[in-house]
Parts: sequence; structure tokens; C-alpha cells
Amino acid sequence: MHIQIGLLGCGTVGGGVIELLHKRKQKIAELTGVQASIKKVLIRDLHKEREVLLDGETLTTDAEDILNDPDITIIIETIGGIEPARSLILQAIAQKKHVITANKDLIALHGSEIIEAAKEANVDVYYEAAVGGAIPLIRPLKESLTANVITEIKGIINGTTNFILSKMTATGADFTEVLDEAQQLGYAEADPSSDVDGLDAARKLTILSTIAFHTKVKLSDVRVTGIREVKADDVRYANELGYVIKLLATGTETDDTLSLCVAPTLIPKDHPLAHVSDAYNALYVRGDASGDLMFFGRGAGSLPTASAVLGDAIDVFRNLTHRVTGLQDSSYLSEKPVVPDKAAAQPFYLRFSVQDRTGVFAKIAGLFGEHDINMETVMQKRICDGSAEIIIITHEVVPTNIDRLRKALEQLESVIAVHLVMPVERA
Ligand SMILES: NC(=O)c1ccc[n+]([C@@H]2O[C@H](COP(=O)([O-])OP(=O)(O)OC[C@H]3O[C@@H](n4cnc5c(N)ncnc54)[C@H](OP(=O)(O)O)[C@@H]3O)[C@@H](O)[C@H]2O)c1
Repeated sequence: MHIQIGLLGCGTVGGGVIELLHKRKQKIAELTGVQASIKKVLIRDLHKEREVLLDGETLTTDAEDILNDPDITIIIETIGGIEPARSLILQAIAQKKHVITANKDLIALHGSEIIEAAKEANVDVYYEAAVGGAIPLIRPLKESLTANVITEIKGIINGTTNFILSKMTATGADFTEVLDEAQQLGYAEADPSSDVDGLDAARKLTILSTIAFHTKVKLSDVRVTGIREVKADDVRYANELGYVIKLLATGTETDDTLSLCVAPTLIPKDHPLAHVSDAYNALYVRGDASGDLMFFGRGAGSLPTASAVLGDAIDVFRNLTHRVTGLQDSSYLSEKPVVPDKAAAQPFYLRFSVQDRTGVFAKIAGLFGEHDINMETVMQKRICDGSAEIIIITHEVVPTNIDRLRKALEQLESVIAVHLVMPVERA
């Protein structure tokens, strides 16, 4: 069988797809009986220099050349962003074309619309590359682990923030300094807010939680804190206390309710997630039958992401040869409430500065007592000009109670500022 593909976008991921398909053509034909080729590639700029060799016949700036071509049966979308990616995918589905996308933003925000349209049109939609680059996450959660009740997913799913925090840990440099370097090296975009403010990780968590917990999760369900407020001092204090700081995305299900959170988190140095550095990603999954599993690998990059995209394409080739396309389920069984108050209690790290005079600590301790929050570790660092910095790690407390404590601390006259509050992971 000969299958022709329309590729939307020819950047980092699209270029990788062309390169990998070229390398693996023979193997794919032997495995699936399919001779696959890319017939057309949609781009914006015909004159741009590209690493992959494509003739003028293959490149187009007109999406209709692909959408209206009856010989093209599969669309691979690697444009990114919401529009025109969403409209192009919906048009392709309406033309009965199968769709593969690496677009996490689109799947997080419009995944259910796209999946419902595909079910209606009886075509396939796959998006393994949208979360975790090369790491198989969507398929294991959707297929291999379906016999489990999954109670927790937890991981490092944003490479940019992991690069920044790893570098801050290794060098002691401050956030802005490392962000500059990450931008120069191409690890962070010119506008880094989606990554450093936690939104990218929250979108990926939305996708993973929808599948793992069989429920519709909205982006607004995720409690999100980015890494801008993490200072070199926090990294140093964490190190003194036996931790490293990572941006952790966590989804937990307790009694049919969910809690979803993205936040910089203190991770014990001997925890496996503490060793996931630079642009690597990792996801822990807790299933009632499987026990704990950890998935680890390259979370981005041209060929790693193309590996996931092409894996999806090979599934579509197989479906086409077996005439079983369009059978994906939407994965939702119910709409489980998201209740932050039900989030599992865990220790928290607080760093705040206070006036350095007698009686202040007694007032602070009183406030902790009023909120029923016990202190596990206390450090005091004198700064200057009569102020001191206090670092506290609490015993287990639910996030909503720590929010209330933070507000109360901010209202205390002797507290100058509460700088940072972060969850702490147990060993
Ligand atoms: N980069 C990664 O490591 C990675 C990892 C996982 C998932 N993803 C996802 O993969 C997708 C693509 O990312 P990328 O890094 O490959 O992006 P990229 O390097 O910026 O490439 C985007 C491509 O799409 C084309 N394009 C953009 N807007 C277009 C439009 N309106 N009409 C026609 N063509 C358009 C661009 O054309 P020109 O070349 O002419 O400018 C370019 O070829 C995104 O959804 C991203 O989130 C990326």
C-alpha cells in the first residue's frame, strides 16, 4: 500500500519527521507493508534556508494544496499554536484525513473538540509527541495501564524550566542570569513566559490527567506557580537542607476528586526525580496494580519528537492496512470534581523576611499554631539593616491551609515580605 502524507510545518519537529521517515522508509515498509512518502509540506516562507532538502514542488504556502488533495490520507501537524493549526486539523478531519499532531497547546485547549470531530468522521487522531517528546506517555496511559486505577501522576514535563533550575543548582547563578543563557542556547524562547510561568507544564498536565483519570480536565483546574520567584538563595537553602528544586506537575485522585498542581518543589536529593536534569523529562505513575512506574527520556528536540510522531504515523499505517481506523475512544468516563482542599497534605517550604527584633519569632510561631501547622525545620539567616530571613519546612499540611497561613503572615506587622512558598516532596 502506498500512503501519502501532508506535513504542516517544517521547523524543528517537521524537519525531524522528514529526516526520520527518510531513514526508516525501508524498515517501515517491511514492518507494515506501507510505502510512505511526504507529498506536500506547508510552510510560511518559501525562501527560508532549511536543513532538510525539499524541492519546490513539495513546499507550499497554500494549505488547500494539502487539504484538497485526495491522494493525501494523513496530515501531520507541526505548526504549533492554536490558529491556524486548529482550523486546518478540523478541515482535514472533515476531508476524512487522519491526523497526527505534536501540538500540546491545541490538544490541552481543544482536544475534546478534535477527538469528537475525528470520531464523527471515523478517522484517527494521535498526539503522543504533545507531551514528553520521545517518551511514550499517552499510549501507556491509554492502553498498557488501562487495567489500573491510577491514583497519581507526577513529573518533570517542561525542559526549559528544568534546564534553568539544573543550571541554577550546578552554578549557584540567579534565575535571570540563567534565563539569558537558556535564551542564547535556544532552550528558552524570546518570550519565555509560557515555560517559566508554568503554563506549558500545566497544559501537558491537563492532557495527561484527562487520560490517566478518565475525566475532562480544564487548564483552569490546575493550580499553577512558575519559577520566576525561585532565587539563588532558595536553591542554596534547599541544598543545605538536602533537597533540589524542580518544577513538578502533579495530579492526584482521592475519593473520585482530583487535585492538580504545577509548582517549584523541593525534592530530596536521593529521590529519582532529583536526578532528572537539563532538557530531560520524567513522569512517575502510580497504578493500583502496576505499582510505581517511572518514564524517563528526552522531552524535546527534533529527532526525539519525530520518533513519537512517526510512531503515531506507523499506528495509522497499520490501522489503514487492517481497515480499523477511527476506533479511538475519547477516554472520558466522567467529570470528576477538582477540589484543592482534598489535595493530599504535604510539607511546605516558606522563605520570608522579618524585622530582626525580640518577640517576632514568638508571634510567627503563634500564627503557625493558630493554623494548626507544625514546623519541622527552622533556619534563620541575618540579612542586614535589622532584617532577617526565616526559612521553615512544615509538617504535612493541605495547600489551602498554607495559603491561609501565607495571608496571615503577610498581614503581620513584623513580617517584611513572604518571598516564596513551595511544596516539599517526601523521600
Ligand atoms: N521543538 C520541540 O522540541 C517540540 C517538542 C514537542 C512538541 N513540540 C510541538 O511541535 C510543534 C512544532 O514545534 P517546532 O519546534 O517544530 O516549531 P517551529 O520550529 O517553529 O516550526 C514551525 C513550522 O511551522 C510553520 N508555520 C508556522 N506557522 C505557519 C502558518 N501560519 N502557515 C504555514 N506554516 C506555518 C513554520 O514555517 P516556516 O519554516 O516557513 O517559518 C515552521 O516550518 C509545536 O506544537 C510544539 O509545541 C515541539
